[in-house]
Amino acid sequence: MKLRYLSHSAFQITTKGGVRLLIDPFLDGNPNAPVRSNEVFADFIVLTHAHGDHLGDAKKIARASNSQIICVNELGLILEKQGFNTHKMGIGGSHSFPFGKIKFTIAHHGSLTDEMQYAGEPSGVLLFIDDKIIYHTGDTGLFLDMKLIGEINKIDYMLLPIGDNFTMGIDDAVKAVEFVNPKTAIPMHYNTFPVIAADPLEFKSKVEQRGKRCKVLEFGEEIIIN
Ligand code: NI
Ligand code: MN
Repeated sequence: MKLRYLSHSAFQITTKGGVRLLIDPFLDGNPNAPVRSNEVFADFIVLTHAHGDHLGDAKKIARASNSQIICVNELGLILEKQGFNTHKMGIGGSHSFPFGKIKFTIAHHGSLTDEMQYAGEPSGVLLFIDDKIIYHTGDTGLFLDMKLIGEINKIDYMLLPIGDNFTMGIDDAVKAVEFVNPKTAIPMHYNTFPVIAADPLEFKSKVEQRGKRCKVLEFGEEIIIN
């Protein structure tokens, strides 16, 4: 599969079979986004929570691409009422889709929409695609259950926030990598706004000091995962 970093917490996945997924597509209001929302296409959009920097341009893209939006139940109900095609799930639940399997995890954060509507619990998400496991933590603080997530699932790529203030900062994120023990850690949710300024190379060197692998992706960079 191909994994492309669209900056902030937004990623694009293209499976071997050609299915296109977007995770947390915050593009048009995002100073670091390498593409605009009208330049991407998604068969499926996965949302970790309802904050504007994650729900982002999901509605615009879903309308243009006729995408199905995969998210937790309460956020899904809100989107469904607005006419979107959703697949609603609960934290801890998994479901098989044409591209692979999705499982939602806990995240310690909030999930209010920009209209101040409660949208359920925030989440992280495990993606089982093309025999690989990707763990996108969503926005979260550090939590000990990450150990359990890493124990049950052999994570290939862990995508985790390092920007601090709203989420883990660098040192807690390094601990999170130790808890989950992924093959490779990829930092996200940094340098979009001044309040989440962080140096991904500092994170990388701290992760590597602990004998783990880290890959810092440029905004717009795409890697092939085999
Ligand atoms: Ni958030
Ligand atoms: Mn956020």
